[in-house]
Amino acid sequence: MQKNDAVMEKIVSLAKRRGFIFQSSEIYGGLNSFYDYGPLGVELKNNVKRAWWRSMVYQRPDVVGLDSAILMHPKIWEASGHIANFTDPLVDCKKCKKRFRADHLLEAQGLAPDLGTMKENPKELTVCPECGGELTEVRQFNLMFKTFMGPVEDQASVVYLRPETAQGIYVNFENVTDSMRLKLPFGIAQIGKAFRNEITPGNFTFRTREFEQMEMQYFVNPKDADRIFEEWKERRMAWYLALGMRKENIRFREHAKNELAHYAKKAVDIEYKTPFGWSELEGIHNRGDWDLSRHAKYSGKDLRYADSETNEKYFPYIIETSAGADRSTLMFILDAYTEISGGRTQTTESTKEMEVMLNFNSQLAPVKVAVLPLSKKNELAQPAQEIFTILSAQWHCMYDETGSIGRRYRRQDEVGTPFCVTVDFETLQDKAVTVRNRNTMAQERIAIDQLAAYLTSRLS
Ligand code: GAP
Repeated sequence: MQKNDAVMEKIVSLAKRRGFIFQSSEIYGGLNSFYDYGPLGVELKNNVKRAWWRSMVYQRPDVVGLDSAILMHPKIWEASGHIANFTDPLVDCKKCKKRFRADHLLEAQGLAPDLGTMKENPKELTVCPECGGELTEVRQFNLMFKTFMGPVEDQASVVYLRPETAQGIYVNFENVTDSMRLKLPFGIAQIGKAFRNEITPGNFTFRTREFEQMEMQYFVNPKDADRIFEEWKERRMAWYLALGMRKENIRFREHAKNELAHYAKKAVDIEYKTPFGWSELEGIHNRGDWDLSRHAKYSGKDLRYADSETNEKYFPYIIETSAGADRSTLMFILDAYTEISGGRTQTTESTKEMEVMLNFNSQLAPVKVAVLPLSKKNELAQPAQEIFTILSAQWHCMYDETGSIGRRYRRQDEVGTPFCVTVDFETLQDKAVTVRNRNTMAQERIAIDQLAAYLTSRLS
């Protein structure tokens, strides 16, 4: 097994063992490329989404939120170009029957030809990389999931599960502008599920068929588009770094002309250095006036912006920042994953074992504080439960009374809990507890009546 596969295996195993991410429908053998978030995973992913919403909506006077429907009028996908263009190039091996994305096979050989315009397979795309069998010609495969609305399953009742949340924003452009009295430049942000019938899903939650996006569409005067694109690029990179992502693990990559999606004038990815290579975490796109002009044409509505300063009417350009909530969550786990060989806990039963710590930024940590009574006896359980009640009014806390204290610290380190509060027999006399810091392992004695203030100053 390769070293990098081993890292991913450890992450997948930790994610299952500690309640972050489970294979969907596992008791029925699983449904390929679908995942469920467990008790700690849902907290972590919600914290990622909350941090994004805070930075993109609450901290921006010029950005508002939206939550649009997943199923929308099918004409939207004609207008957006998804019915004609939202395809991936597919090849099959005639011998072993494996299916591949042709662009991935070519990328692996350092090539990036425009497959959309290709009439026949290039010579680098004739044999199967797995068994050497003959490959079929490239076929374009539409990634949208179809379903039917109402009782009759015919062409007239076809609707699509949205493959991106962005279109829900464009078709509400007029509603939001009018109701919120917005003037350019301004943005509309949305978090929601998207669905793509990916040909080759994989790498755990990196590429799945059901996922969540965190998208923001910023509407600008076309003459300002290049400058504002650069500003959003820098802001989005700063967001990951502020949440503790290591600088050496994250970079920009600009798309070549022949890689651009059908709607994009310019695109830059934010990529993360995963165990399976540099991979897209977020896309920042200049979509020009593609979306609003197409929806104006297909809906018959005038979606031009009336500029009260210049008395002009024009289609704003759109600068889009499009991040994956599941991908970000996975990358934050990968970035936080730390192995400490030989262990660092000084209790007899846990020395010399390799320790695992998830070094999450405290904003993202699924549990902020663990309350640990040294004994299950009522004389300690009662004050510990009182402390839990006080702290859980502010933070997601965990109460754990089983196993040795060393083992309990290690369990919390493994899920990334920044602080453990230990209630011991001295607590009964001095009305204080021991607070242990995950990263430094420093322990401080803090009076119970000072505890909330102590944690507030460290967790905010
Ligand atoms: N509205 C533009 C758009 O959807 P995209 O580059 O196709 O652009 C944006 O997708 C982001 O959505 C990606 O950077 C990724 O984080 C996430 N994403 C896309 N496809 C995904 C999949 N199959 N599984 C998980 N996340 C995905």
